[in-house]
Amino acid sequence: MKIGIIGSGSMGAGIAQVASTAGHQVYLYDNNPTALERAKKNLRKVMDRLVEKKRIETETAEAIQNRITYVDSIFNMADANLVIEAIIEDLQIKKAVFEQMEDVLESDAILASNTSSLSIASIAAACKKPERVLGLHFFNPAPLMKLVEVIPAIQTDPGVVATATKLMQDWGKITVLTKDTPGFIVNRVARPFYGEALRIYDEGMADAATIDWAMTEIGGFRMGPFTLMDYIGNDVNYKVTETVFHAFYNDPRYRPSFTQKRLSEAGYLGRKSGKGYYDYSEGSEKPAPNQDKELGENIFWRILVMLINEAADALYWKIASRDDIDLAMTKGVNYPKGLLAWADEKGIQHCVDTMDRLTEEYQEDRYRCSPLLRKMAREGKTFYG
Ligand SMILES: NC(=O)c1ccc[n+]([C@@H]2O[C@H](COP(=O)([O-])OP(=O)(O)OC[C@H]3O[C@@H](n4cnc5c(N)ncnc54)[C@H](O)[C@@H]3O)[C@@H](O)[C@H]2O)c1
Repeated sequence: MKIGIIGSGSMGAGIAQVASTAGHQVYLYDNNPTALERAKKNLRKVMDRLVEKKRIETETAEAIQNRITYVDSIFNMADANLVIEAIIEDLQIKKAVFEQMEDVLESDAILASNTSSLSIASIAAACKKPERVLGLHFFNPAPLMKLVEVIPAIQTDPGVVATATKLMQDWGKITVLTKDTPGFIVNRVARPFYGEALRIYDEGMADAATIDWAMTEIGGFRMGPFTLMDYIGNDVNYKVTETVFHAFYNDPRYRPSFTQKRLSEAGYLGRKSGKGYYDYSEGSEKPAPNQDKELGENIFWRILVMLINEAADALYWKIASRDDIDLAMTKGVNYPKGLLAWADEKGIQHCVDTMDRLTEEYQEDRYRCSPLLRKMAREGKTFYG
């Protein structure tokens, strides 16, 4: 199979590396020649580093690079069997690219989008053969992150889904099947990790360092929410939250925070701008957290229960299966445990009681308990029972 990749930014370049490493001939196209040149240089650096660390042989590194052809027109990938689009997150521009792809490619080629937040159905609708379009959502950095969310649109042929899923698995990826709804699994279920942390911060319950400490030291997460938001970029993280919020018809559960909006507006984007929730300038030190155990436990549990509630709701609405929801969070964003398994461990009734206590306290729809958790508590069931 020959693979075409459209867009050679962080995602496109990473996916090209994955496909080439799996042995495919790859075409990488970008409408910006500088981006294409940058992708080529970056890949050389990555390969040199892997050879230096003795992870791969020099010949393998050469072969991976040689299998990628950098092309300056979509017409140069006419014989690709699968094309993965990873361009700017703009529906109209993506639709135009899909229309063009259909004119150029063979009629049985599969067309995939790596979109994080747009509807696959609307992208597919731009095509004459929408049944060959699906979403293949990789995570950043694509060569390292194991997860791929496979997203059929309502128009997609099941055979196309099966072929694409098998191919991703052949590339060494772990696939999860998800419904074509905003944020798919990961970008939906993970919202409270940022949103509830910001809410706790905005209420003045704790500062960023303390919340990060609670989530890493008590919760076992690899990175605290504020460190992670600074890493992702406050502009990018804010945009995803805002998109998901609007896509869910302004459901208060996903409401963005003014704190993050202001940081983003001020250019305090995080690591990339040298300042975000933390100061990254030379010589600056991270503030010390308040290591009060009880406070830390309360912060951790409030964020975790909101994540569990979101995961349970995703299952309730049949966005994905129990196993795929847990896999997505452990493999896509490195959570220490699957959220539904965590719910069993903490006790379903305890989750319901906490959600009800939060609703009682705030009288906000944001804290409504998932009907699935309530039903399970009533029936004494567990997710893995
Ligand atoms: N960055 C992430 O963490 C991440 C994770 C998963 C999915 N995504 C999704 O992947 C896609 C790409 O994201 P990215 O972070 O790689 O963006 P990026 O800005 O790094 O790269 C996008 C590239 O697309 C090119 N491009 C724009 N319009 C084009 C067109 N009409 N034809 C050809 N090339 C065009 C740009 O020149 C640029 O090089 C987006 O849909 C994004 O939502 C991003």
